[in-house]
Amino acid sequence: MCGIVGYIGPKNSVDIIVSGLHRLEYRGYDSAGIALCQGRDEKLLVIKTPGKISDLETAIRAAFAGKEARNYTLGIGHTRWATHGAPTRENAHPHVSRNGQFAIVHNGIIENYAELKARLIKKGFVFASETDSEVIAHLIEECYVGDLRGAVAAAIEKLEGAYGIAVISSKHPDTLVAVRKGSPIVVGICDGETIVASDVSAIVNYTKRVIFLNDGDILTATADSVEIASIKNVPVTREMTHIDWDIRDIEKGGYAHFMLKEIHEQPATIANALRGRLIESEGTAKLSGMLMGPSDMARIDRVSIAACGTSYHAGMVGKYLFEDFASIPSEVQQAAEFRDRNPIIQRDTCLIAISQSGETADTLAAVREGHQKGAVVMGICNVVGSTIAREAGRGVYLHAGPEIGVASTKAFTSQVTVLTMMAIALARTRRLSVNAGREMIQQLAKLPGIAEQVIAQESVIIKIAEKYADMRDCFYIGRGYMYPAALEGALKLKEISYIHAEGYHASELKHGPIALLEKTVPVIALVPNVPGKIKTMGNMQECKARHSPVIAIATEGDRDIESLSEDIIRIPPCPEFLAPIPAVIAEQLLAYHIARLRGCSIDQPRNLAKSVTVE
Ligand code: G6P
Repeated sequence: MCGIVGYIGPKNSVDIIVSGLHRLEYRGYDSAGIALCQGRDEKLLVIKTPGKISDLETAIRAAFAGKEARNYTLGIGHTRWATHGAPTRENAHPHVSRNGQFAIVHNGIIENYAELKARLIKKGFVFASETDSEVIAHLIEECYVGDLRGAVAAAIEKLEGAYGIAVISSKHPDTLVAVRKGSPIVVGICDGETIVASDVSAIVNYTKRVIFLNDGDILTATADSVEIASIKNVPVTREMTHIDWDIRDIEKGGYAHFMLKEIHEQPATIANALRGRLIESEGTAKLSGMLMGPSDMARIDRVSIAACGTSYHAGMVGKYLFEDFASIPSEVQQAAEFRDRNPIIQRDTCLIAISQSGETADTLAAVREGHQKGAVVMGICNVVGSTIAREAGRGVYLHAGPEIGVASTKAFTSQVTVLTMMAIALARTRRLSVNAGREMIQQLAKLPGIAEQVIAQESVIIKIAEKYADMRDCFYIGRGYMYPAALEGALKLKEISYIHAEGYHASELKHGPIALLEKTVPVIALVPNVPGKIKTMGNMQECKARHSPVIAIATEGDRDIESLSEDIIRIPPCPEFLAPIPAVIAEQLLAYHIARLRGCSIDQPRNLAKSVTVE
């Protein structure tokens, strides 16, 4: 979704902002722009364009053509993912106020913009865009009485909704102001310069020392100082976070796409999720971020999981794990629905919010609702310092490193790995014996090797992808632990290849979707050698009888499925509770190669965003 970068310091802000915007491209966007301070009280220079950052760079070169090179030491930039108004030049950010001296970039949604806009128009302000964001620039000009921070504070008091905003004004060429409520803003602390952004990726090239603003914080930065205060101008102190990954982690490292790199990273990222957490001698896992001893864990009598997209599918696996091993009644729901349907939360309900980015608006709303209703709230996040991680207050990090491809891959396998460890830890405070726990721990430790073996099947998967790359529709089926894997396989394929794909419980196929089966509609059957296999084989028969080619994802050496399958992708033998991981890795590779053969924009699929910060 939208991205923000702002810079103040001795260097040319154009270069730093544009390279920061490139780092944020992965989030998904459809227009971009930059505003620069040309000198005190002068009009700000604004360059913006629909399309890609490369289009913005062309526009910048054109704007500067023939002009004397100069150093713009203060500027802000933005990538916009259209919500209010089409992705046009006018709707792109930054937006400037009437006098051209105040510019803003905004992430989030201003819910009361229509009434604010109507009032401002009556006062003579002229709007250039259809966005909700433009009101902010005009409000700041309206509230300005000599103090930029004060004007921003007064303006945001009038706003309802969610925002991360960066502001510059030519009246204050040495000041950059930023504010957050619901949409992240992070400040990079460097010597003699300050960078703000909506995402650490835009900053990590310059510094590893960052501060995340809290909701309600207003940042006033110069090149050498950073002050954070509340809206009422009461100074606050925020902890410095050290980023433990570097720029190489957000580069492709020789792979054609980030998605492929991230698929291949999984043996290492799963190992990172496990590192230091398996206590084999005690047959349990130690997850210190849960902030719970065995007696606290023993008190949990219900688990409620809230998440979106791929994280929701990981949550489904989590529900099976908590019920199977810890015997805790569990439910999983799409995060938006969690809040919309007023769920029942009791004192010992543990709400687990799963989010790779830690910024998904619906999942964040579920966290807040969970706290409000008195649940024990836990986050499973990848991005350190993200809003959900902080607001949950306790939980487990994935340590998978930055995930740049919009289609989530390594986060899923790490989420399932973490959920398995949580289930074991909870189960050990109940009926799971030390020996049974030890066996599970030993199986878990084999996961990186299992992931490696699936990736070694890539050449087989490429051949299958070549055969089916032209299909228009397909189904994924599975049962038990393979059901969420079927949903995830279909999601992966549709996200990046735009093929219509649907995941179904293998048995549910006959209650409607079977009407669509014919020889041009393949079915991908998740049928490893785990309980339920025989029944799914029956469902494969049903598909075969309707002439649908069946692609099986099956266990190495299993010959039972051969007569039912047109093609087979083999995964190593493993217990049922771990099988979603190798099955999903095989699906990721299949989706990737089909999308590649179709020439799709794999890392930034159309209409999708990496981090969805609107509800
Ligand atoms: C977006 C992404 C998905 C992701 C979902 C949840 O829709 O495109 O890949 O699964 O958000 O994101 P989260 O960061 O909360 O896991």
